[in-house]
Amino acid sequence: MSLPRHRPFPRTFLWGAATAAYQIEGAWNTDGRGRSVWDDFCATPGKVFEGHSGKTACDHYHRHREDVRLMKQLGLQTYRFSISWTRLFPSGRGKLNPKGLAFYDRLVDELLAAGIRPFCTLFHWDYPSALFRRGGWLHADSPAWFADYAAAVAESLGDRVRDWMTFNEPQIFIGLGHGNGTHAPGLKLPVREQLQAARHVQLAHGLAVSALRAGADRNAKIGWAPVGVVHYPATAKPADIRAARRATDACHRDHVFNNTLWSDPVILGRVAPEARRAYGKLLPRYSDSDLRTMAQPLDFYGVNIYQGTPVRAGRNGQPQPQPFGPGNPRTAFEWNITPAALRWGPRFIHERYGLPVFITENGLSNTDWVAADGKAHDPQRIDFTGRYLHELRRALTDGVPVRGYFHWSLMDNFEWAEGYKQRFGLIHVDYETLKRTPKDSYRWYRKVIGTRGAAL
Ligand code: FCB
Repeated sequence: MSLPRHRPFPRTFLWGAATAAYQIEGAWNTDGRGRSVWDDFCATPGKVFEGHSGKTACDHYHRHREDVRLMKQLGLQTYRFSISWTRLFPSGRGKLNPKGLAFYDRLVDELLAAGIRPFCTLFHWDYPSALFRRGGWLHADSPAWFADYAAAVAESLGDRVRDWMTFNEPQIFIGLGHGNGTHAPGLKLPVREQLQAARHVQLAHGLAVSALRAGADRNAKIGWAPVGVVHYPATAKPADIRAARRATDACHRDHVFNNTLWSDPVILGRVAPEARRAYGKLLPRYSDSDLRTMAQPLDFYGVNIYQGTPVRAGRNGQPQPQPFGPGNPRTAFEWNITPAALRWGPRFIHERYGLPVFITENGLSNTDWVAADGKAHDPQRIDFTGRYLHELRRALTDGVPVRGYFHWSLMDNFEWAEGYKQRFGLIHVDYETLKRTPKDSYRWYRKVIGTRGAAL
């Protein structure tokens, strides 16, 4: 099958790639970096695939120059990375560690010199161990701890970084990290306590946005980057579209993997009616002043979308998730390949929240290796990304203001509980030698960027 041709993406559309600190930096105890819950989790037997850890990862901390060069050759217009809280504040609070900050100073300067716009995430899961021992996200002071960190970042990098995200995928570091225990810090808390932690994260978000507005450039653009829990219509029937929208907005009592519990307070300044219905008395109280703190004006909604679930309207329009047929295409992670998620996800999110949208992550894990010819061939990545981008282009045609796309990931990296098993990169990394080998998809993506998507 070949994809139908379509118009190129708008000139202002930004093409990027994403990473996160703990997944690529390594140098876990260099220049005074403090421990995070991910260092502890990796050191706990049985938690991470084959006992892998981010101790060395891609050694980006020492190889950032080479990596920025590779970004430039790729033609990236923008690069999304995160800051390690414990490089700046080894125990989460207190005196700023200048050596840790110097790393991000250099990185930002190199990106700007290469003509690449830095998109910075304040928190991508590597929570300071010292603060975790004091109660972490369950502690009533946790929002203030985060706000202090955010203020320090704004003051140090806010003159050069214009684009910010507070949190990456709060659903996951709470739902997996504090719910089912498969991610750091490995807690298995009842939903009531996960919801309390969620409220603290939302307060932390609001305070951090205020800190960025106060300390960073006047023209700073700020958003957050939740995971998109996406349902899409199985057919073009209006009833199925309505059902998919309803399923995308829904909350379920036994977990926190949803969109609206998280984003309604932060963007709409209210508790989602769906969350009230689903959780009832389990929800903590959100006072008016909480909601005012949380709902700071945002410039964009960043959403990470990898897959979605097809839905049909059942009786009374009730959403009915459709099973995937046998042999449905899947990635190496066994995630379903569902390009339509990139058309409908941004659309439903935009309809509810009214903000411009960035796809802050999308990509796949694949069993890539360096072949006998010295190259890394990954036709699956090219096909996957082409199909997803094609659907994203349709979202634009539908009128959804999608402003940019970040491929996950720039390079193979430490995939959390899966260790180095899952390879998501446009660049292959040999973890023995740390050699970088651009994959076929890297050259393909360069063409996509160069032609604004016309080469798809
Ligand atoms: C997302 C995470 C990112 C990466 C991808 C594969 O949930 O934000 O760090 O692990 O999945």
